[in-house]
Amino acid sequence: MVDVILGLQWGDEGKGKIVDFFAPNYDLVARFQGGPNAGHTLYVEDKKVVLHQIPSGIFHQNTINLIGGGVVLDPVTLKRECDLVASFGIDVKKNLYISERTNIIVPTHRALDKASETSKGTEKIGSTLKGIGPAYMDKTGRNAIRVGDILDKSFITNYIKLRLKHQRLLDNFHFNEDISGWEDEFFDAIEFLRTLNVVNGEYFINNKISQGQKILAEGAQGSMLDIDFGTFPYVTSSNTISAGVCTGLGVAPQKINEVIGVSKAYCTRVGSGPFPTELFDATGEELRKIGAEFGATTGRPRRCGWIDLVALQYACMINGVTKIVMTKADVLDSFDKLSMCTSYLINDEEKKEVPFAISKVKIEPLYQSFDGWSTDTTAIKESAKLPATMNTYIKFINEFVGAPVKYVSNGPGREQIVAL
Ligand code: GDP
Ligand code: IMO
Ligand code: MG
Repeated sequence: MVDVILGLQWGDEGKGKIVDFFAPNYDLVARFQGGPNAGHTLYVEDKKVVLHQIPSGIFHQNTINLIGGGVVLDPVTLKRECDLVASFGIDVKKNLYISERTNIIVPTHRALDKASETSKGTEKIGSTLKGIGPAYMDKTGRNAIRVGDILDKSFITNYIKLRLKHQRLLDNFHFNEDISGWEDEFFDAIEFLRTLNVVNGEYFINNKISQGQKILAEGAQGSMLDIDFGTFPYVTSSNTISAGVCTGLGVAPQKINEVIGVSKAYCTRVGSGPFPTELFDATGEELRKIGAEFGATTGRPRRCGWIDLVALQYACMINGVTKIVMTKADVLDSFDKLSMCTSYLINDEEKKEVPFAISKVKIEPLYQSFDGWSTDTTAIKESAKLPATMNTYIKFINEFVGAPVKYVSNGPGREQIVAL
């Protein structure tokens, strides 16, 4: 069976740490979508590591990792990351597999991302500029080059054809930066990619399922950034929700078991787009400071606010969440009063649903207030020691969203997690 760990908000919920924590219980960890726009942070031997392409199970010697066909892969980022992982004594040639169907991000995808964002002016998405949108566009446009293609003689011809197509688009954008340096490192990385384990991902994973092995699917981004169900157009270009596991890995829906949703105890977003509970005051600044809320991929300050239960309930519904992991609970340790958004006021009407036009309508969040726990929780290991006010906070979430919080993460470290 396949369990899933995915983000329930706008990304950066702490998925990397949680996948790393659960990985020893699994034979295989597989990324099913997204690309190097992801930045998943974990601590290995007390050293901070940020993974962009490699699944977060890679630091466990007995866990195999797969980059699934639903992912878009930047070979340059992958090579750099393989070197980093190898410096911890991990043999990527043994523990990492890549699906033939994985789409490749070429240098002109990054250029197109930049050109497209620039052309949007004040309406820009706030993309990470890693070439994600253009790479997925070439997938649905049926132009993409996939990992399986790099072993084929026609690879260079196809690459040149694609590059020419992109060049015409770039000319339209009047983009004339010299990207020849990017191309040199790209071909160097393609050579490296040829030395890795490229497999038929769908047989690889289904054979493991038939053998009774345990599989964990790792999501990137968050449900509110899903291309179909997120705050469109301020979203990423893939299906970040549990349905993406089926298309991204070639796994049938009946094979999916637990869907573990990760949510911060509050809320953040990086990049543009609607964020009903965003705080522009000293409290927002406090959350950013205590939570060290700066993007793991781009370093941009994250926008911060109170937890949005309307959006969280929606995310639990479309994902079929069976368990929630609440991360960064410790960030709230010093707040006297906490708030949770329980409805939206839209055109003077109170709503408990995420509206279609979330990017266009004015939303006033309505809050319920809670006492803070005003306790340092970072060293707590057992649920019985958690403050009563935290239990009240959690119980309210469970009832509101219809899924239970089963773990509380109380610090960035591997061991800072409490099972409820
Ligand atoms: P991801 O993209 O979902 O994997 O999340 P990121 O790695 O982008 O951002 C999460 C940040 O919060 C990282 O810096 C983590 O080290 C950190 N983090 C994760 N869990 C906790 C927690 O429970 N408490 C605190 N204080 N930090 C955490
Ligand atoms: P992880 O996996 C947070 C955001 C970008 C931008 C929008 C589109 O670390 O949670 P893209 O580069 O996909 O074209 O950007 O999505 N975004 C993320 N925000 N965490 C991420 O990944 C993100 N990946 C993309 O900031 O607003
Ligand atoms: Mg991140």
